[in-house]
Amino acid sequence: MKKKSIFTLVLASVLLTVLLAACGGGNTSGAQSESSASKAEASASAEASASTSTEASTATTASGDVQVGIVLPTKDEPRWLQDQAQFEKLLGDAGFTSQVLFSQGSSATEKTNVETLVSQGAQVIVICAQDGGAAAAAVEDAKKAGTTVIAYDRLITDTDAVDYYVTFNSFAVGEAQGQYLIDNAPSGSGIPLYLYAGAATDNNAFIFFEGAWSVLQPKIADGTFVIANSSEAEALKDKAELSRDEIGKIIGQVTTDWDFNVAKSKAEAHLTANGADMKGDVVILAPNDGTARSIADVFATDSDVSSYIVTGQDAEKASVQYVIDGKQSMTVFKDTRTLAADSVAMALDVLNGKTPSTDTTYDNGKIEVPAKETPIIVVEKDNVSKELIDSGYYEASEFTGLN
Ligand code: BGC
Repeated sequence: MKKKSIFTLVLASVLLTVLLAACGGGNTSGAQSESSASKAEASASAEASASTSTEASTATTASGDVQVGIVLPTKDEPRWLQDQAQFEKLLGDAGFTSQVLFSQGSSATEKTNVETLVSQGAQVIVICAQDGGAAAAAVEDAKKAGTTVIAYDRLITDTDAVDYYVTFNSFAVGEAQGQYLIDNAPSGSGIPLYLYAGAATDNNAFIFFEGAWSVLQPKIADGTFVIANSSEAEALKDKAELSRDEIGKIIGQVTTDWDFNVAKSKAEAHLTANGADMKGDVVILAPNDGTARSIADVFATDSDVSSYIVTGQDAEKASVQYVIDGKQSMTVFKDTRTLAADSVAMALDVLNGKTPSTDTTYDNGKIEVPAKETPIIVVEKDNVSKELIDSGYYEASEFTGLN
């Protein structure tokens, strides 16, 4: 416990540096931190493909005593490797004893991961749930053991066992994707709109869709866009605000399950089912980068599709290259430096007996969870350098064709 005051000083300086970099300072520290993130992404990627291990551990003490435990959903998507790299850097630099565990798409593994961290003495668990509903049982056990639970990026639903939520503004993500399609669509009306969504087990998938629908719906209702692949969305096209159940019905038809293979086969099936009238110049709401690349590849090979505009999110390196190459139209940059730094700052407050500062609340179906929200940035070809290179998130040498 005595170590806390030293941690406070060291971590405060680390956080200040990271937050300054995240706020656009673009200083050397930010560059170093992100260059290590990039490298960590590459090496963790290699590790993920070389091994079926469900866990990656960092910075444990010899005794195995853990102060802060991190649980992330999967190593199979670059997005979460970016977050892992940030946590390892921040927690390691601060001298915290910590461990990062991956659930590899399994709620059972996730529950075991939480139990493991609790048994190792974790006072704070930061968890990005594989399945927001299923994770409730795991965090309820952690709460009973006296652990503070911080939901990370994805909200854990229908439980009072979540103390805090650290998130990007997910409504703004969907809104930005929808608005991008509107702003960049060819002129005229009757433009085919293909809708895709995230996994129904992820609360964010609902919020992203809700945000996108808020701007797309008027353009569907007035005939600018014609829905090409969802009878449920078509049936609801005159409704500006959808209930969760209604969004659930649409997601049921157009979910990618956050899986590139599912995205690919759905896109293939949709193009096979549609005639030339639903092709030509099309716009595509793709929920994130991994699914966007799969869907874009499918649309690019259909000779009846003359052009497509496709959204994404996460600024994954492969998608940034797609954006530079004109194969993906945009991505939404969610700066994992800020999200991880906010979580670590919260954990530090908790360890110091302070109440973390929050700026909003999220209703998880049971309680209003105090939350800290981070803004998002739209990235297209023209601002890749400014937002991702100048800010130190990636290095220019990681891409080809960048001006
Ligand atoms: C995250 C996205 C991510 C998706 C798939 C969502 O909850 O907010 O950034 O692409 O999950 O992992």
